[in-house]
Amino acid sequence: MGFLSRIGVALDSDLLARFDRFITKQGYTNRSEAFRDLIRDRLVAVAIEDPRAPVVGTVTLIYDHHSRLLPEKLMNLQHDHHDLIICATHAHLDHDTCLEVIILKGEAKRVQRLADTLIGTKGVQHGRLVMSSPTSYLSKTA
Ligand code: NI
Repeated sequence: MGFLSRIGVALDSDLLARFDRFITKQGYTNRSEAFRDLIRDRLVAVAIEDPRAPVVGTVTLIYDHHSRLLPEKLMNLQHDHHDLIICATHAHLDHDTCLEVIILKGEAKRVQRLADTLIGTKGVQHGRLVMSSPTSYLSKTA
């Protein structure tokens, strides 16, 4: 982390009012932290657009474990890509429904491809990938 720099930002008053309402709703108590978070969020979004960027990600899957061969297919996919997977957590939400969260780390394009395959596996009811890039990665890629 670098030293703290102070900057002045000129904003249209209507835009500032909208920003203040937004950050209040989000629970921010000061503008500086909200600005910092927005900047970081945008930097991460741009960094992970590079297919070769090193990323971390979570894939959340919801599925019925009675779906024919589905648990085995999901397990086989994970073993086939063990180099990308840090760990997986499984929760039995009710008698039928499973929630699985898989934590991945690797090249953006490979993480995205594996997530698409997992989410697109027949029987998966809902899935989502969230990718991020830790600050230490950002400093190397930005
Ligand atoms: Ni389960």
